[in-house]
Amino acid sequence: MFSAVETRELQSLTNQLLPKKTIENEQELNDLRAVLRFHEHRYYVMADPLLADKEYDDLYKLLEKAEASHPDWIRPDSPTQRVAKGLNSNFENVQHLVPMLSLENSYNAEDLLDWDRKARELSGKEELEYCVEPKFDGASISLIYENDYLSRGATRGDGVSGDDITTNIKQIKSVPLSAGFLAKGIQQIEIRGEVLLNKANFKKYNDQLAQQNLPPLANPRNAAAGSLRIKDPKEVANRNLEAFLYHVSYTVPSASQEMTTQLQSHSGSLELLWELGFKSPVKEKKVVKGIQAVIDYCEAYEAGRDDLPYEIDGMVIKVNDIQLQEQLGMTSHHPRWAIAFKFKARQATSKLIGVEFQVGRTGSITPVAKITPVPIGGVTVSSISLFNEEVIKEKNLMIGDTVLVERAGDVIPYIVKSLDELRDGGETAIVFPKNCPICNSALEKPEEEAVWRCGNDECPAQVVERIIHFTSKDALDIRGFGEANVRKFYEKGYLHNIPGIYELPFDTIRGLDGFGEKSIIKLQEAIEQSKQQPLHRLIFGLGIRYVGETTAKVLAQTVEHLLDFKNFTVEQLLALEDVGPKVANSIYQYFHKESHIQMLEQLEALGLQLKSTKQSVVTDGALSGKTFLFTGTLTTLKRSEAEALAESKGGKIVSGVSSKLNYLVTGEDAGSKLEKAKKIPSIQLLSEAEFIKMING
Ligand code: IVH
Repeated sequence: MFSAVETRELQSLTNQLLPKKTIENEQELNDLRAVLRFHEHRYYVMADPLLADKEYDDLYKLLEKAEASHPDWIRPDSPTQRVAKGLNSNFENVQHLVPMLSLENSYNAEDLLDWDRKARELSGKEELEYCVEPKFDGASISLIYENDYLSRGATRGDGVSGDDITTNIKQIKSVPLSAGFLAKGIQQIEIRGEVLLNKANFKKYNDQLAQQNLPPLANPRNAAAGSLRIKDPKEVANRNLEAFLYHVSYTVPSASQEMTTQLQSHSGSLELLWELGFKSPVKEKKVVKGIQAVIDYCEAYEAGRDDLPYEIDGMVIKVNDIQLQEQLGMTSHHPRWAIAFKFKARQATSKLIGVEFQVGRTGSITPVAKITPVPIGGVTVSSISLFNEEVIKEKNLMIGDTVLVERAGDVIPYIVKSLDELRDGGETAIVFPKNCPICNSALEKPEEEAVWRCGNDECPAQVVERIIHFTSKDALDIRGFGEANVRKFYEKGYLHNIPGIYELPFDTIRGLDGFGEKSIIKLQEAIEQSKQQPLHRLIFGLGIRYVGETTAKVLAQTVEHLLDFKNFTVEQLLALEDVGPKVANSIYQYFHKESHIQMLEQLEALGLQLKSTKQSVVTDGALSGKTFLFTGTLTTLKRSEAEALAESKGGKIVSGVSSKLNYLVTGEDAGSKLEKAKKIPSIQLLSEAEFIKMING
């Protein structure tokens, strides 16, 4: 899209604009918009940003300010014009220029060989050239650009007409608001593609739902489809959707310019789209001759499916020559020039044999479906969370039902639906309990919540879950403790609460089956070490409702000593980063309960760190401003120790490989992160030994 020369020019313009406080004239404003579009493209289309987020924000604010004082200088494709007000009516139904057909499916090599044979017969060719690309698992969209401007975005709908979702499409930053089609001889164009939520953003969104005790979205596909129908564009923007554009369905030539020859092949049209700033699968696609090469590419792609940042459910094979496509034509349902190759299903049917009700550490009651064990995508599934009573009602589930189960990629398995038509009358209703299955207290549910709770703080199930959470990897990280030991020690009466972890009767434990001297010493050491964990881990470990790791870090940076929160008002808590009313109330309640205060005092007396880590953020260390990422298995250090070491010298840990990363430290079996980093020359690769050397000076 941007040549090396343009990239250098835009970089230099960026540097000229960054220090500016105001924009002087329209030319400068145009430059600023070009610079912002360039950086949006680097970030959202190429996933290779050249600017820090803060710098982008500063430039964006400069643009907003300039446009506010000169409304006549605003252009419809200005980066500010993505923002829009919410809708209060329904989406308007609009006709597609060309109907959106679906694809014929194939499931194995034989299907593809058959299809290829027919296509060769119909076209009279001995061998066909194909373009093979991923089948993105999202929601399909159709975009229209007229005279270079995005004029409409629509959902697929019934294929003939869909919903006008232009304002929502504008929230997808990889979709350009204008693109240079006129210069390519195209006055109007209709483009098809798929909107998706990548795995990381899907997880992030589900984590947010889980913090509010809401059932997660089933899979990224549903999440993408649902996101496009939200009436508040700001919320749509929050989801960080992406769009792959993979098909040109209609064009009107411009009067003054010969139409580009790029549209004569499918791969050419993908390249045209990429050149004009769209995210099209140019790097993912492969042009091959003959069906065997197609089969090979499909199989190789399926093997690497789990390593992709987004979900795909197969590959799409297209005859590459557009003239040949037209010659092959279509049936009433699908084109003859394309076929989908579907990957192995991650769905299976099984029998729902019972429902267990589990009590979580905050007392939430989670119904868990027990099904006849069934293998899906390489693992055996026998237990599936049903989240809350509503889910059971919505899906109309009964014990004895045959259920359709899906397990997509890294997503936890879920029940898609019950197959009602297979019922034989022997099914029984699922009865949600009125009392806690463990301590028998009456269950409670506030009006506005979906989840029933056991309100008894001392409920054994809650106590055990709290201790398990406290010792877990992201909390105090007491290695070798584990869920099984917590349960065993609790049942035997050696452990009643969190402080009890630090007063375990090791002399008695020594006599238990399965506890050798070595494992006892290891466990004692791990418990002792956990006393030195930084405050944010302790806060997270307490399991305060709605307080996840991020909020725990904010809290740890707010006070000198954890017990200072006793004196915080709800208003003061609300003023903290990322803390909304629900979270603030929960924290307030926690620190106004005498038993919690007593427990915290006890933990301090036992030697745990309740003092803030506030002062320990190093800003002038030898590695200040440098970013680090660790990948693979480290052999000398634990991952958390290595990270803490880097931080102790002022380094910052980042979560992914991008051009913002300075050092990738690679342990054994480093995988896709290393591969990605090798492609970015500015990233320095370090072995664990080299990293340790660096830390030591
Ligand atoms: S081409 C006329 N290419 O799969 C051909 N479709 O079952 C238009 N899809 O409705 C479709 N990735 O939503 C095409 N690379 C890709 C695709 C793709 C995903 C979806 C699309 C379509 C469905 C067909």
